[in-house]
Amino acid sequence: MNGTTTSRSEDKTLRRIYIGHANTFHDPSIAIIEGDQIFAEGIERHIQCKRAWENLRLWYSWRAVRKALNDLGLWPVKDADVVSVTSWDYDLLKEVVENRLVEFDGPGGVCMLSHHMEMEPIFNNQLAWILRSYPANFSDQPHELAPEMFQDSHNISIQIKMTNHHLAHAATAVYTSPFDECMVMIIDGYGEWTTNSFYHFHDNRFDLIHQQGIHSLGLMYSSITEICGFSSLEGEEWKIMGLAAYGAFNNDIYQFFNERIVFDGLSFEIIYDPEIYFKTLMSLIGGMRHPDDPDVMKIADLAHCFQRFFEETVVKLAKAAGDLCLSKNLAYAGGCALNSSANGKILENTNFERLHIPSAPADDGCSLGAAFYEKYAAQKDGNRSVAVMSPYLGSMIDIERLEKILSFKGIKYRHLSDENELCEEVAILLDAGNIVGWIQGRAEFGPRALGNRSIIADPRPADMKDRINSRVKFREDYRPLAPSILHEFGDEYFEGYQESPYMERTLNFRDAVKDKVPAVVHKNGTGRLQTVREEWNPRYYRLIHAFYEKTGIPLVLNTSYNVMGKPIAHSVEDAITVFFTTGLDYLVIGNYILMKG
Ligand SMILES: [Fe+2]
Repeated sequence: MNGTTTSRSEDKTLRRIYIGHANTFHDPSIAIIEGDQIFAEGIERHIQCKRAWENLRLWYSWRAVRKALNDLGLWPVKDADVVSVTSWDYDLLKEVVENRLVEFDGPGGVCMLSHHMEMEPIFNNQLAWILRSYPANFSDQPHELAPEMFQDSHNISIQIKMTNHHLAHAATAVYTSPFDECMVMIIDGYGEWTTNSFYHFHDNRFDLIHQQGIHSLGLMYSSITEICGFSSLEGEEWKIMGLAAYGAFNNDIYQFFNERIVFDGLSFEIIYDPEIYFKTLMSLIGGMRHPDDPDVMKIADLAHCFQRFFEETVVKLAKAAGDLCLSKNLAYAGGCALNSSANGKILENTNFERLHIPSAPADDGCSLGAAFYEKYAAQKDGNRSVAVMSPYLGSMIDIERLEKILSFKGIKYRHLSDENELCEEVAILLDAGNIVGWIQGRAEFGPRALGNRSIIADPRPADMKDRINSRVKFREDYRPLAPSILHEFGDEYFEGYQESPYMERTLNFRDAVKDKVPAVVHKNGTGRLQTVREEWNPRYYRLIHAFYEKTGIPLVLNTSYNVMGKPIAHSVEDAITVFFTTGLDYLVIGNYILMKG
């Protein structure tokens, strides 16, 4: 039950621990805030199962909470107020499942689900799939297990809270930003009742400006993903964005989408009739692509036109928000905020002067948002710091464990205790064409590797992208690889340079530099950049700088430390397994350089 309190102590000196749960069926995560300490991590990392769908969430969530509390020095918990807060209303879900799910078979696996009394078109089978697999016992939710989890703890009180989904997204965007006031734009598949929300954040308040409850841009993107033969359940919307650059503009396909959306300020309506919609679209694109069909390029024009439509829609909504003239700052989150191509077009087309998108803008970020909202907005507990928040909020790599493994004498390695020497050595390896795993400190929160769980390489060889995709990542060649660039060189390499600390936006490379770094220039001349400042990640900055001193190139190729279909490596054992089962040449963990042969 939401909003309950158990065993409340009257002792005002108790420390307060906020535990946030992202509990929206997919991409579960946990966050812990205690004083100045913050921890946040996706459950998929722990179980090494991409997106950690519903059936695995509960048990692993609590295991992850306990491990994080232990890492933070807070386990066993004693003398504390524990506030356990979720980012989704399960009572509503229960009602929806029991009373209002209506499913029918149609092209593209269309289903309809009514959050409201009226019927609501949803363009894919995602919810039906989730709800069919949903556990029978709805009371077994992570926040409701809090009393059980802490039953052996000493002198604690437990509060059970819920933050609604879009407010959790909004809090993630705002409380990780450098803004003390801003507009907030949330666009995703769906919240409990809403698909888009706009707030004005000021004086630590979230004033609701507009919410929309039916028409979903996120679910429309998912439906096109399915039509292209990719899986929205596996999060393969990325592939549409990558493939879009290989397609051509087709006016008929573009107008098909463009004519089906009607804007009214912050609101839009998608004109949708299931039969006409699919019949017309299928006639334009020549049918759906089967997932096993190797000819991916047959749907490249569709990807191109839909991505363009999507970008224009996001920009129109952001422009409408900017035209309200409530703020020059925009904080943006929700699943659609993962679309870096659209994100890169917001500032140049709106009144906003500054844009912040958190490192985890999608549902995984809601654990942190829910905990933040409860702490700062609901309980008015302390003052937040107004600074760009570090994305390095996850687990620390376990160097002791690594040393134990290395003591078995089966792995060749070098240990360089001096950081500058380490970075110079790795720069030499990169310059020689090696592909290097680079694992340092705490893991990034969110889907991007930002220099702590990364695979890095020299961006100059034209075939480097293909080498990494075929030897290490085992993924499609139409998906781009991204650059990490020293901030001070951003303007030299990118048109209309904007800082992008979480690899959250895509910009156009300047023509003069494209030939210098072909491995990170996408087919359409863009790059999804991570900008690196020394104060954000000193060791990664030093590494890129060492590479620059050696080569004159102030950027490296950076992709996440995983193989296709698997989450980013979590443990030392995961990292070593990836190293020895792929074509990686070297693996650097902390100050250790592991090598093969
Ligand atoms: Fe969401």
